[in-house]
Amino acid sequence: MKATMIKHGVYWVGGIDWDLRNFHGYLTQRGSTYNAYLIIDEKITLIDNVKQQFTEELIERISEVIDPAKIDYIVQNHIEMDHSGSLPRIMELCPNAEVIASPKGIEGLPKHYFREWNFRAVKSGDTLNLGKRTLHFVQTPMVHWPDNMVSYCPQEKILFSNDAFGQHIASSERFDDEYPFSTLIEEAAKYYANIVLPYSSQVQKALEVVGGLDIEVIAPSHGLIWRDNIPAIIGEYRKWAGNETVPKAIIIYDTMWGSTRKMAGAIRDAFESAGYSIRMCNLQQNHISDIMTEILSARYVCVGSPTLNRNMLPSVAAFLTYMKGLAPRGRHGLAFGSYGWGEQSVKQIDAILNECGFETLEPLRQQYIPTNDNLAAMRDSVLARIPKIT
Ligand code: FEO
Repeated sequence: MKATMIKHGVYWVGGIDWDLRNFHGYLTQRGSTYNAYLIIDEKITLIDNVKQQFTEELIERISEVIDPAKIDYIVQNHIEMDHSGSLPRIMELCPNAEVIASPKGIEGLPKHYFREWNFRAVKSGDTLNLGKRTLHFVQTPMVHWPDNMVSYCPQEKILFSNDAFGQHIASSERFDDEYPFSTLIEEAAKYYANIVLPYSSQVQKALEVVGGLDIEVIAPSHGLIWRDNIPAIIGEYRKWAGNETVPKAIIIYDTMWGSTRKMAGAIRDAFESAGYSIRMCNLQQNHISDIMTEILSARYVCVGSPTLNRNMLPSVAAFLTYMKGLAPRGRHGLAFGSYGWGEQSVKQIDAILNECGFETLEPLRQQYIPTNDNLAAMRDSVLARIPKIT
């Protein structure tokens, strides 16, 4: 397995996970990579490592460049196990290497691996002299765990960004200009919506720091390395972190006997008439992580369920739990649903949309089967309450 040179003396030596389809409940239909980087200087430095089962792949790639026993520093930008899982094995090969991480990282590593290695804690503003190059550290807590930091090499103009700017894509290509751009942005958006979104205010702070750096390469810990579309991905991150939306309504529902589906159709007609882009998402056919990708830019989030045993359907409850945890902000919400003799589901959905901080429209309810007149009235009432897009 080959290492890939990013710049002279700087190599990608990570692992490619072609089979990954579930990352904490996130459907990773294109697999992923765990990116690790090797810098050959007076001090040999490994930045991050890989999930435990890809350790031999990592070692093979490092060995293609240099004997792993010569590693002096291991920088752990993040201690989550997809980036630190091979640390015990690597430390067997270079037992005198220093392990460098943020204070939270140094606190967390022994709680994962129950070893006391040669640790060094670094904070924002600290630097590490490698010889001809230096690494500058910036703590980026909660992008994605409290320990996260990024490392910047000014001589090479490379930002090792760890989870930020990542995408779950397994590929033989390593650089953004070698891969279809629309797929890359779609996967970067999915990654942001399903992993980074709850930490958007911290991302905004990190973007302020990144904005002041001279960057030619962004080397994330998952997916393709950015060297051609850096302003584009930073621009997208600014939009996503700012919870910017477009005129788009996403209608998410499940149905028992088709009444809630008919209501979803009436809501769709209203938004269509008002000029919005529409996404219809039946929870039986759409994965919640794909729905979150659409919510990343949706202005209206409409959620429908019939009442079953005094509750919403479990599929709708699961989706709402997932969305609430990911904490999108600045959206409008609409709860809707049919019922037979209890009306609990719509009230429950409306309450959760309000807990999410959404500005909600008056919910829509329908007993048993809606007539065409009922549906027309629903469409007109939604249409009357949403701004038209010209
Ligand atoms: Fe890819 Fe938070 O680890």
